[in-house]
Amino acid sequence: MTNTPFTTTQTGTPVPSDAHSLTSGADGATALHDRYLVEKLAQFNRERIPERIVHAKGGGAFGEFVVTEDVSAYTQAAVFQPGARTETLQRFSSVAGEQGSPDTWRDVRGFSVKFYTTEGNYDIVGNNTPVFFIRDGIKFPDFIHSQKRLPGSGLRDADMQWDFWTLSPESAHQVTYLMGDRGLPRSWREMPGFGSHTYQWINAAGERFWVKYHFTSNQGNVEMEGSEAELIAGADADYYRRDLYEAIEAGSFPSWDVHVQVMPYEDAKTYRFNPFDLTKVWPHADYPLIKVGTHTLNRNPQNFFAEIEQAAFSPANTVPGIDISPDKMLMARVFSYPDAQRYRVGTNYNQIPVNAPHAAPVHNYSQDGAQRHGFNAPSTPVYAPNSLGGPVADEARAGVGSWESDGELTRAAATLHAEDDDFGQAGTLYREVFDDAAKARFLETITGAVGGVQSLAIRERAIQYWTNVDANLGAALRIALEAAPLAADEPGVTSEPAHS
Ligand code: HEM
Repeated sequence: MTNTPFTTTQTGTPVPSDAHSLTSGADGATALHDRYLVEKLAQFNRERIPERIVHAKGGGAFGEFVVTEDVSAYTQAAVFQPGARTETLQRFSSVAGEQGSPDTWRDVRGFSVKFYTTEGNYDIVGNNTPVFFIRDGIKFPDFIHSQKRLPGSGLRDADMQWDFWTLSPESAHQVTYLMGDRGLPRSWREMPGFGSHTYQWINAAGERFWVKYHFTSNQGNVEMEGSEAELIAGADADYYRRDLYEAIEAGSFPSWDVHVQVMPYEDAKTYRFNPFDLTKVWPHADYPLIKVGTHTLNRNPQNFFAEIEQAAFSPANTVPGIDISPDKMLMARVFSYPDAQRYRVGTNYNQIPVNAPHAAPVHNYSQDGAQRHGFNAPSTPVYAPNSLGGPVADEARAGVGSWESDGELTRAAATLHAEDDDFGQAGTLYREVFDDAAKARFLETITGAVGGVQSLAIRERAIQYWTNVDANLGAALRIALEAAPLAADEPGVTSEPAHS
């Protein structure tokens, strides 16, 4: 509530009525000079900004990250020094659904954390799975198109989903997560988070390490059955958003322990998998989890639009002592997010309070642009170099990472290491991580999902895809699909994808 007891225009002038337009006589024409009517309607028409191109449906809260251990041997980042406490914002999301879509549709869940550090904002923009569907950013728009809607009917379509996945075998590991229990968490509070990519840490001596982030839920990992998720999708589309909000309002603050896997810089060259391949995990037996601290969410937003919808998370937001790696996906993302946010929120999106750094000053020579509202003192120089004492870059302070790169410009898959393939880790996940009940649920889920495919050719490819993951699984899927007659077996249905 504001302290103002009366309604005003946007410029603070008292308005004559909340309920009646200005008309010539009670039943006559509306006067265009009813400024408040015009302002109110015009303002209303501009309430929406474009939803995020992916991860449109979500929710979030503010919190605090506390470092409980000492990982200063690996990074000089202030946010990870012993005892550091940092304000944070976290947003959770679903990937494919639009803003109003039900929270409990099967999907990967986004897990984004913004740390308002003393050295600038640091964002980890990850998921509740440690891997991804593709390993080169050039395929991302195609992948997302295949998961969203057909251009003609505006409907989702199993054929295009499975067409893309089966023609992109590197997707198998992530699709195994998605179709497994991880695809339906009970709540955002009861799921893990992963940075997924390999990042680089740099210590005070300039030594470099490769790291992966793991957020382990202190509420446990709890999932729901597909049938329950479907019922909830109909009854309460905002199930996860409500759960998080209500838990925090009730003072039950969810928390995650933050760990890293650390790979010595030189190991990357000879490790059995390409360590920058986003479709692979690093087995814990090779690189165990090292605890860093605990992240707790303890404050709900005061205004969902201002603080969650306008929040701009980006893998490009790094701080001294942390950098990216030669992962083609990560390099594409570093371009993509700020570009999306300039379009979605506006040029000066980083001046909005939720995106502006809390603890670090901003000094640079960018100026003006739509909706600029911060400004420097009139005497501040507007160009560099200058002899007026303006800010100057400090390479040592920047603490950036690097890696060797001396090849010719090329378009090629990243270097294969000894054990690199598309299906091996998916098979391990299915055989060694899923118990018998999880395996049964998994078969039921993929039978339903592949059962929606109308093209026999794509369905056959899907059976082969799962056979490549695990031969017994492929055989079981074939039997399950034969047992349930499918629409594609009906007369008149093409055996070829319409768009091939
Ligand atoms: C090259 C591949 C990718 C591209 C081009 C891409 C692009 C995007 C874009 C444009 C957005 C919307 C940003 C905004 O409007 O604020 C977004 C959101 C998001 N992406 Fe990606 N993405 C990629 C891969 C990934 C991967 C691998 C992950 C997880 C490991 C991921 C996690 C997320 C999350 C969590 C959000 C929502 C951020 C929020 O909460 O606001 N994306 N992505």
